[in-house]
Amino acid sequence: MTTKNLFIQASLILIVAIFVYTPAGAGGNPADGEQAFESICSSCHGAIGITEIPGVPVFSNGERMDKTDEQLKHSIRNGVNNPDNPAGMVMPPFGGGPVLNEKQLSDVIAYIRSLKKN
Ligand code: HEC
Repeated sequence: MTTKNLFIQASLILIVAIFVYTPAGAGGNPADGEQAFESICSSCHGAIGITEIPGVPVFSNGERMDKTDEQLKHSIRNGVNNPDNPAGMVMPPFGGGPVLNEKQLSDVIAYIRSLKKN
C-alpha cells in the first residue's frame, strides 16, 4: 500500500468517526428553525407561538414542551390525529408543508422550545 493510499484511508476513517460520534439531533439551531416555523407552522401555531385557535397548543406557554425531542419529531413527521382534541383539530404531517429532514426537525423544535415565556 502506498503512503498516499494510507493517508486517504486514514482521512476516510476520521470523517466516518466524526459523523458517527456526533450525537444525532443534539442541539438544533433555533435561528435556522425560525424561517420554517414562520412559513409553515405559524398559520396554526401563531407567530412567536401565540395562537387563539382552539385545540392548537400554545408554544409561548410551553405547552407540550415536557415531551422529548424524539416524541415531538414523531408528531411533526406523522402529524397528530388526536380523538380527544378539544376542538377536533388535526395536525397534518409536517404541518402540511414540505418534508423536513432530521436537521430541519431539530432546528424547528429548538425554535419552538425557545418561544416559551417564563
Ligand atoms: C393546520 C394546523 C397546524 C399546522 C399548520 C401545524 N400544526 Fe402543529 N399542531 C396542530 C394541532 C391541532 C396540534 C395538537 C394536536 C393534538 O390534539 O394533540 C398540534 C401539535 C403540535 C405539536 C405537539 C405534538 C405533541 O406530540 O404533543 C408540535 C410539536 C407541533 N404541532 C409542531 C408543529 C410544527 C413544527 C409545524 C410546522 C412544520 C406545525 N406544528 C404546523 C396544528 C397545526
